[in-house]
Amino acid sequence: MLQTRLTDKLGCQYPIVQTAMGWVADPNLVAGSCNAGGFGFLAGATIPPEEMERDLLRVKELTDKPFGVNFHMYQPNAAAIVELVVRHGVRAVSYSRSPGADMIAKLKDAGVVCMPTVGLPKHAIKAVELGADVITVQGGEGGGHTGAIPTTLLLPQVVAAVGDKVPVVAAGGFKDGDGLVAAMSWGADGIAMGTRFLMSKESPVPRETLQRYIECKDPGVIIRSTAMDGLPQRMIMNQLLEKLERAGPLKKLLLAVSNGLAFRKHTGASLIGLLKSAIAMQRDDGLTAAQAIMSANAPMIIQKAMVSGQPDLGVLPSGQVAAVIDELLSCEDLIKGIVEQAEQRLSVLAARAQ
Ligand SMILES: Cc1cc2nc3c(=O)[nH]c(=O)nc-3n(C[C@H](O)[C@H](O)[C@H](O)COP(=O)(O)O)c2cc1C
Repeated sequence: MLQTRLTDKLGCQYPIVQTAMGWVADPNLVAGSCNAGGFGFLAGATIPPEEMERDLLRVKELTDKPFGVNFHMYQPNAAAIVELVVRHGVRAVSYSRSPGADMIAKLKDAGVVCMPTVGLPKHAIKAVELGADVITVQGGEGGGHTGAIPTTLLLPQVVAAVGDKVPVVAAGGFKDGDGLVAAMSWGADGIAMGTRFLMSKESPVPRETLQRYIECKDPGVIIRSTAMDGLPQRMIMNQLLEKLERAGPLKKLLLAVSNGLAFRKHTGASLIGLLKSAIAMQRDDGLTAAQAIMSANAPMIIQKAMVSGQPDLGVLPSGQVAAVIDELLSCEDLIKGIVEQAEQRLSVLAARAQ
């Protein structure tokens, strides 16, 4: 019952996707998800360019199952990632800001499944026109950058808009088998989850930071804020976010520049490369200079919480679903539990229908 157009396209056992999360979706988490029957995406946007190939090979060492890579068109090494994806036969790519037509053509020629994430029906239609093979639709309750419309309203709209052409995957607020069945009953071909996998045993996030996620029991404090980089992003309220929400433009600019320099050191991106992505975002997303620099460097601020284990010095990107997750499960137990609950729910519904 859980074989869908999505499992066919991605070559996985269950219609359950582990989405890319900057600093979090590392080779171990991706392999854990894939080995458990799901489909994992490596977070290519925060992996230093010189480590990208090593991480791809590491996933291949840890699993013989297909997996995917996430990146975005503004990152300076986007073309290099496309080349690596093609060369290593990676099954799928995910992205929110679509690469140009030439990059999409290169990926599609190589048979790579192109799977953008969208937050509006019109973006889903555009993405399919650009060549998307699968659409992930993320409702506003989802983690990281996110829109304003909740999954319950957005998903049926996107299914109606493009569901006859490509499989649609529901993201934003999912954690269990009941959610999977609900999404499928709206016409989705599967679910994609970020926060639930972030809160797993394979998650590389330090315990000090994970504790904040576990302790958070109020979806109302997992807010959607533009204070970080001008684009709405959902995060758990903490000291830094409060400070950012209150900061004036000059303070934000200073913070943006200092983080920019730190990120440059980490990724090896040239100053020119960094400025170029900031200018492109300013042009395309209508951001102020400070927001654009901040956006290009937001990963550095996230890194403080996600890698260094300093939950008050970095931000805590999270879906609201974190507030209803009480324990860290292994990918194996998580996916097994989802599948079992979904099958039980489907049997109950089938019995009722009879
Ligand atoms: C910590 C964190 C980091 C994220 N980083 C990325 C990213 O680098 N690229 C991306 O496309 N989406 C990113 N996202 C969004 C997720 O891939 C996913 O779409 C979202 O978490 C789904 O909603 P959920 O958290 O309710 O499951 C991130 C989300 C979180 C929680």
